[in-house]
Amino acid sequence: MSEAPELLDRVRAGGEVPRHVAVIMDGNGRWARDRHLPRSLGHREGMKAVREAVEGCIAAGVEILTLFAFSEENWQRPPREIGALMALLEEYIARETDELRTNGVEVHVIGDLARLSPPAREAVDRLIAQTRGGTKLLLNLAISYSSRAEIAAAARRLAEDVRAGRLALEDVDEDAVSLRLYTAGLADPDLLVRTSGERRLSNFLLWQLAYTELYITPVLWPDFTRRDLFEAILDFQGRERRFGRVTA
Ligand code: FPP
Repeated sequence: MSEAPELLDRVRAGGEVPRHVAVIMDGNGRWARDRHLPRSLGHREGMKAVREAVEGCIAAGVEILTLFAFSEENWQRPPREIGALMALLEEYIARETDELRTNGVEVHVIGDLARLSPPAREAVDRLIAQTRGGTKLLLNLAISYSSRAEIAAAARRLAEDVRAGRLALEDVDEDAVSLRLYTAGLADPDLLVRTSGERRLSNFLLWQLAYTELYITPVLWPDFTRRDLFEAILDFQGRERRFGRVTA
């Protein structure tokens, strides 16, 4: 796989690198279908692209990478595909934990982990424990994640805190909501990459993406390399971010 040094040089010379990159990894199924392969093989190939994205982020100096690995809605897929995805998650953890730790990656997981099978849950807990303290990259895996569910849970917690007298009604503001999301304390994504050409947010980080720059690429996720990541960052570096204001 290409190290793409010339592109990386352009990224480094190109100005600000996004602190937080979020990715909707889409197109595994289509990649497999194009090759008359089962969908599970598309997901397996997608695992390699996860490695490319992680290594590319470290090389470019991105601080946080959030990957949408499995949505709450994905529980409605055929049991066989869900089983294959969970097995892949366990395999990814078994194979990559040492490397992630060596590379200084600290893994966090966001989502409703109570729905995972006990072995998958244990593997995730192990991955989190064994990578704690990594300082090069925070890898945030969204698993069994729904943004609306996350926001609804934050609203419920706010209501409970007000009812219990821990929070004054006047203090229910944007910060109070942010602090009750899975992503509490993390900078919002600067750049969202979605592969496979789809132009949807698909219930991903709806609150956190308010001012995020969107980059849609036709590349299917299994074909995604660090080169594609660098292209996305270069595109980001050409954007003018105004956050609703006018330029000086
Ligand atoms: C979307 O493609 C992708 C997923 C639902 C799963 C993403 C999982 C991986 C990349 C592999 C495992 C990841 C980790 C972190 C271990 P799709 O199936 O919706 O593709 P389609 O739209 O072409 O059908």
